[in-house]
Amino acid sequence: MDAVRIYGGNCLSGQTKIQGSKNASLPILAATLLIDGTCEIVNCPDISDVYHMLRLLESLGCRVCRKADVIRIDTCRVAECDMPADSVGVMRSSIMLLGALLARMGEVAMEYPGGCVIGKRPIDLHLCALRRMGVEIMEGPEEFCARACRLHGAVHELPFVSVGVTENLILAAVLAEGETVIHPAAREPEIQALCEFLVSAGGKINGAGTDRLVIEGVKKLCPVRFRVPADRIVAGTYLTACMCAGGRVFLEDAPCCQMESVIACAENMGVHLRPSPEGLLVEGRACRRLGENLVTAVYPGFPTDLQSPFMAVMALSGQGGQIEETVFENRFRIVPELVKMGADIRVKGNCACVCAGTRLCNTIVEAKELRGGAALIVAALAAEGTGIVTNRHYIDRGYEDITRSLRELGADVELA
Ligand code: UD1
Repeated sequence: MDAVRIYGGNCLSGQTKIQGSKNASLPILAATLLIDGTCEIVNCPDISDVYHMLRLLESLGCRVCRKADVIRIDTCRVAECDMPADSVGVMRSSIMLLGALLARMGEVAMEYPGGCVIGKRPIDLHLCALRRMGVEIMEGPEEFCARACRLHGAVHELPFVSVGVTENLILAAVLAEGETVIHPAAREPEIQALCEFLVSAGGKINGAGTDRLVIEGVKKLCPVRFRVPADRIVAGTYLTACMCAGGRVFLEDAPCCQMESVIACAENMGVHLRPSPEGLLVEGRACRRLGENLVTAVYPGFPTDLQSPFMAVMALSGQGGQIEETVFENRFRIVPELVKMGADIRVKGNCACVCAGTRLCNTIVEAKELRGGAALIVAALAAEGTGIVTNRHYIDRGYEDITRSLRELGADVELA
């Protein structure tokens, strides 16, 4: 039962509610460690990455209770500063606990989070920046130990924009002594959500949503209840489902104001969209070649997480297109799988050329990572015949129940 079966060729029609954001939930859950008491996080998605983050928090001494979409986290008994190796192995985002745990316990021991299938994903920049805040780091071959008697503020002029590094530094800085400046800071909506959470708990953060964050350390944060915003990447994935299969769907709660580059790209490809505060109405299928290269970039540029779903659209629409991936060096892992389905895609370095005029047929294909796996399901919706996407567990990392959501949109899909 680790696969999805897709009966291709159905037009979509229906409505689904977009889940809470994975990439906002994970750092916010890590941030609860900075607060002595019980926080309530609402609208956290029910996905395996959140499950692993909660297991990690429990292993550090937190009491976690989940009722429907509300997670209560009581951090009063946090006593551990060693992160269990198996949890760090399954979830790269465990690196986010580094800044928070240093602030809380003054010490952390953990294995290096493994390289991820979409690229090397080193943590050099995390460690280098934390050293500037008074953290001493002893690096062993497989694990490292970080220690700081007292975290102090620092001016970080970073060599490039990193979402994870910006988050880790915010978490380390909010209770540190003095002022911290992060430049260039990532501007992703998930960073803004983290800042809103911390500010509502009493943190002093200026510049959220800009490339310069200024954080004035405070002595204490207070427990809060916070609602996680909807997931722009999940909304974008279901948008591509309609772009491939055609039809008319409503994506309730889709955070349209965070999706400008994606909406512009979809409209350029001939789909009719009606964004509103209630969600995103999508009509029609992609019928035009994208007028320019699709280039992934940091926010507000086109998100790398939606590059594979848009590659599926380019292949399935028969229009083709050009993609340049600038964020991760190994994010074309769906190419051989789309080729198995009949696509003609040529990769050279960080560029992919999707040739026009191909017809795709369903077969058995393999998910090799989260977004690429979802993109294969999207592709199969519009290909001929019946397809199977294996390794569903990758997709479960970020999608609450992708078969249920797609069925709500009128697709013929089931667990297999
Ligand atoms: C986050 C998102 C991920 C998204 C990515 C880019 C989460 C849980 N994950 O990942 O979905 O695709 O942002 O929007 O929020 N790098 C280094 N050294 C470091 C850190 C990063 O070289 O110490 C490199 C990475 O290998 C990558 C680039 O920086 O090439 C950007 O990565 P980063 O923004 O840090 O992505 P993540 O935070 O890992």
